[in-house]
Amino acid sequence: MKYEAEINKRKTFAIISHPDAGKTTLTEKLLLFGGAIQTAGAVKSNKIKKHATSDFMEIERQRGISVATSVMTFEYKNTLINLLDTPGHKDFAEDTYRTLTAVDSVILVIDSVNGVEAQTRRLMEVIAMRKTPVMVFINKMDRDGKNRYDLLEEIEAELKIQLHPMTWPINNGKDFKGVYDLTQKSLVLFTAGTKQTDDDDVVEISDLTSTMLDEKVGDKDAATLREDVELIDGVYGQLDKSEYLTGEKAPVFFGSAVNNFGVKELLDTFIQIAPTPRDRSTNTRNVSVQEDKMSGFVFKIHANLDPKHRDRIAFFRICSGRFERNKYYHHVRMDKDMRFSNPYTFLARSKDVVEDAYPGDIVGLFDTGNFKIGDTLTEGENFFYTGIPTFSPEIFKEVVNKDPMKTKQLEKGLMQLTDEGVAQLFTQHGGNKKIIGCVGELQFEVIQYRLLQEYGASVQFNTLPFYKACWMTSNDKKKLDDFTRFKMANVAEDKDGHLVYLAQSEWFLNTERNNNPDIEFHFTSEVHK
Ligand code: G4P
Repeated sequence: MKYEAEINKRKTFAIISHPDAGKTTLTEKLLLFGGAIQTAGAVKSNKIKKHATSDFMEIERQRGISVATSVMTFEYKNTLINLLDTPGHKDFAEDTYRTLTAVDSVILVIDSVNGVEAQTRRLMEVIAMRKTPVMVFINKMDRDGKNRYDLLEEIEAELKIQLHPMTWPINNGKDFKGVYDLTQKSLVLFTAGTKQTDDDDVVEISDLTSTMLDEKVGDKDAATLREDVELIDGVYGQLDKSEYLTGEKAPVFFGSAVNNFGVKELLDTFIQIAPTPRDRSTNTRNVSVQEDKMSGFVFKIHANLDPKHRDRIAFFRICSGRFERNKYYHHVRMDKDMRFSNPYTFLARSKDVVEDAYPGDIVGLFDTGNFKIGDTLTEGENFFYTGIPTFSPEIFKEVVNKDPMKTKQLEKGLMQLTDEGVAQLFTQHGGNKKIIGCVGELQFEVIQYRLLQEYGASVQFNTLPFYKACWMTSNDKKKLDDFTRFKMANVAEDKDGHLVYLAQSEWFLNTERNNNPDIEFHFTSEVHK
C-alpha cells in the first residue's frame, strides 16, 4: 500500500457525447475550474467538420489537436483529474471505444433539445459492457428543449440505465431560471449571459416551503418546483453511491455548459463520488491497484503525419505501482525489457517529461514501432490486461496494390498502421487477398494517404459487400473446419490468426447462426484472451 495517497487522489475519466452536444464546451469549463486554462476558447473543438471528408490538411490539423488534447490533467480541490479526450467524429468511434478501456468513469453529455442520439447509444453499449460508472449532464437548458420528465424517460429507456437526478431544473429555454440542487438543498440561479464561476448565485433553501423560494423564482415556478421535488424525492430517494460505482445508476445534472451553469455542481459531485483507480483483471489474475509493482497497458497509439517526424506516441495507462523514468520494464508480448527516457504527462496541456507516475495516470511513450494496442508492461511478470475489445468494422474494402515494386513496403505499412488501430486487417482464408475493415470512410482516405506518404506504397480500394466481421468460436473443431471450407469466400483471418465470418447482411448472419448452432459468432474480439 505504498502509493495509497497518490492513488486516492486520482480520478481518470472521459466525456462522451454525440457531436455538437457540448463536449468541448464542458471540457473547457472543467479546465477553467481546475485552473488549467485561463480563458474560454482555449480548447479547440476537435471536430472534423462534416464537409471535410477529403481534406487531408483538415485531418492533419485534427490529429495535431487531438494529440495536444488527448489527455488533460488538472487539479481541483486536491483531486488530480485525468480527462481523456475522445474523438467527436463517428468515423473514429473505434478510438473512443478503446479510450473507454483506460478510464475509471465517464460523463455523458446529452443535448436537451435532441435527446439521445445515435452515437450515444453505441458508446453506452460499450460502457454497459464494462459496467463503467456514468454521470449524465443534460446540456443546453437555456434552449427550448424536451420536457425534463420525457427526457429522463427517454434516456433511461434508450440507454438502459437508471437515472438519479442530482439537480432539478426550473423551466428551460428563455424561461430557464436555474436548478435546485437536491443534495445541497440550494437554489442555483441562472442569469442569461452571466457566467457562474463562484457561489454568488447560490441561495441555500433547505426548506422548500420557505417564501424565499417564491421571492427568487416567482409563485408559479416555486409551486411547480415544490411538486417536482416531492415527486423526485419520492421516486428516487437518496443516491446509493455503490449503485453508481457498479454502473447501475447514473446521477444526472441539468445545466448549460456554454454559460458555465450547473457545471460546478457536476464537478463537485464528481470529485466526491467518482471512482479512484480500481483493480483490473488480466489473463492470469486480478491485479490490485495497490500492488507495489508497476503494470499497465497501451490503449492508443498516435502517429505523426508529418513525414519529417515519424515518431509515434503510445498512450500507456498505469494500473498498479509507480512508473519511473529510465527504469526497465518488461514488454510482455515481445518478451523484451525496455526503458523510457522521455515519458511525458499532459499536465495543463503542455507536454512535460515526468520522473514518475501512478495508477490512473496516462503517460506518453515515444515509440519506434514496438507497441500494439493492448500491449502490457510489467516488472517481469507475464500477463496481459483483458477487457480491451476489438469491435467489428462496418466497411470492408479489398486492398489493390497499384505498384508491385512496392509490395514489401505495402505489407509493412499495412501491418504498422493496423497495429496503431487505425483499421483492422484481414486476410482471406486460404488466399492472399488483404481486406481492410474500418468504422468510417474517412479512415480509408487516411490509410491511402499514409501508405503513400510514409511507405511509398500506392493502393486502391475495392468495396466489398460485407456488413460485419464475426469472430467464430466453437467447441467442435470439425464443424468449424467444415464451415470454413464451405464458406471460403466469406471467411478470413484477423491479424492474430483468429477466424472471422464476413457476413453480407444480418439475414445471412442469422441464417448461418441457425444452420450452425455449434458455432458462435461474436461482434467483438478480446485483444487478449
Ligand atoms: P461537441 O464538442 O460535443 O461537438 O460540442 P461543442 O462543445 O463544440 O458545442 C457545440 C455547439 O453547442 C457550440 O456552438 C456551442 O457553443 C454550443 N453549446 C454548448 N453548450 C451550450 C449550451 O449550454 N447552450 C447553448 N445554447 N449552446 C451550447 P457552435 O455554434 O457550433 O460553435 P461556437 O461557434 O459557439 O463555438
